[in-house]
Amino acid sequence: MEYLEIKGGNPLKGEVRIQGSKNAALPILSAVILHRGTTVLRNCPKIIDVVYMLEILKDFGCRVSWEKEELVIDASKLLDCQVAECYGRQMRSSIMLLGSLLGRMKEACVSYPGGCVIGARPIDLHLAALERLGAVFTEEPAGLKAVCRQPVGAAVSLPFPSVGATENVILLASLAEGTTILENAAREPEIVELCRFLNCMGGSVRGAGTSRLVITGVKELHDTEFTIMPDRIVAGTYMLMTAAAGGEVLLRDAPLEQLECVRRVLEQMGVKQEHGEHGIRISCGGRPRCIEELSTSPYPGFPTDLQSPLLAALSAARGSSCVRETIFEARFKIVEELCRMGADIRIEGEKAVIQGVPRLYGTDLTARELRGGAALVLAAAAAEGTSRIYQYHYIARGYENIIRDLQSLGVVVRYLRS
Ligand code: EPZ
Repeated sequence: MEYLEIKGGNPLKGEVRIQGSKNAALPILSAVILHRGTTVLRNCPKIIDVVYMLEILKDFGCRVSWEKEELVIDASKLLDCQVAECYGRQMRSSIMLLGSLLGRMKEACVSYPGGCVIGARPIDLHLAALERLGAVFTEEPAGLKAVCRQPVGAAVSLPFPSVGATENVILLASLAEGTTILENAAREPEIVELCRFLNCMGGSVRGAGTSRLVITGVKELHDTEFTIMPDRIVAGTYMLMTAAAGGEVLLRDAPLEQLECVRRVLEQMGVKQEHGEHGIRISCGGRPRCIEELSTSPYPGFPTDLQSPLLAALSAARGSSCVRETIFEARFKIVEELCRMGADIRIEGEKAVIQGVPRLYGTDLTARELRGGAALVLAAAAAEGTSRIYQYHYIARGYENIIRDLQSLGVVVRYLRS
């Protein structure tokens, strides 16, 4: 069994370059198949979810190669439009291939993405929105079959600014006949990055970053080379880790403007921040301060993906904090593991009340999903003594090389197999 062994309790010291964004790379890899040609991607994170996505693209008939740090994908010939069951089940984000497969192949077959630890994660908003553009769905033994013989632009309004549903609409609308107006679109930076990528390929998406997108379908796209933006959630994880463990770190390439809300919370916690042309320098001496009440919310609010790392950091704070999770209905599962380290957290419905404790203690821990696993790594770096974190593969789904990053921040960490 693989696990991380972390000897915690020392302040962080060092610098780390923030990797490319997982949640930008995945929809961009889906968008690549809209074009009958070659795309070159730079700064694509080498994470498990990207490996899965590239296997799916190869199953479709794409030619994929890493040329040093550049990912080269030739999608000239697509022979298949079925997402293999094994990947569909493993990786929920394979659902965002629906829009690009329908745009390119006019049909698709994907397995219903299972729910996961953090919630049921239905896809009703995706299906209703794509039906507005002409898609027809049927449930078959092999999974969800979709056909869209002639995608047509339409007025679409999302009841909730779903990131994935927004991405699927953008992907299908990019090659549809006419114009699509998408109201209540998600405004996350990863959506802006997808729109930027599509426009680089010759697409026409306007309003990126606002809740109203105007997508004008084009006949075809062209070859492009594109550099993927840094990962704001990875940067936020290391910022919160510095708050919890103390010390001083430099996070190179951290996307400052996308972390506005997180930086305000860190200020409330008493964390010093200086930003320069190379990134952001974070320092914290002693225990951080608690925060009154915070709710996760769609961008530009506090990101749900940093909620678990925030709980871990607040566990070491002075005083009592309250965090409300409003995006996923089951995203407090990690609390049980944090309490086994001596944290004092109680759940009241969608609210977690965190009573900061003078210290956390290392112990054996189990990750059950990506961001909860990252929260355990954060707590282990701050805790006194040694922690062993099992099910490390969940963390590797989103963190390119957390061992390398932690070591460059001065954390004593090893990857071991028992
Ligand atoms: C994306 O997931 C991200 N994943 C998630 O990051 C992130 O937490 C989430 O957006 C919110 O920001 C990727 O980008 C690959 P949603 P997505 O559709 O698209 C409900 C990580 O750790 N909903 O905005 O699945 C849903 O159940 C991951 O990197 C419906 O009810 O998120 C949830 O409660 C975790 N019906 C809420 O909306 C639908 O059809 C937000 O979901 C779709 C969603």
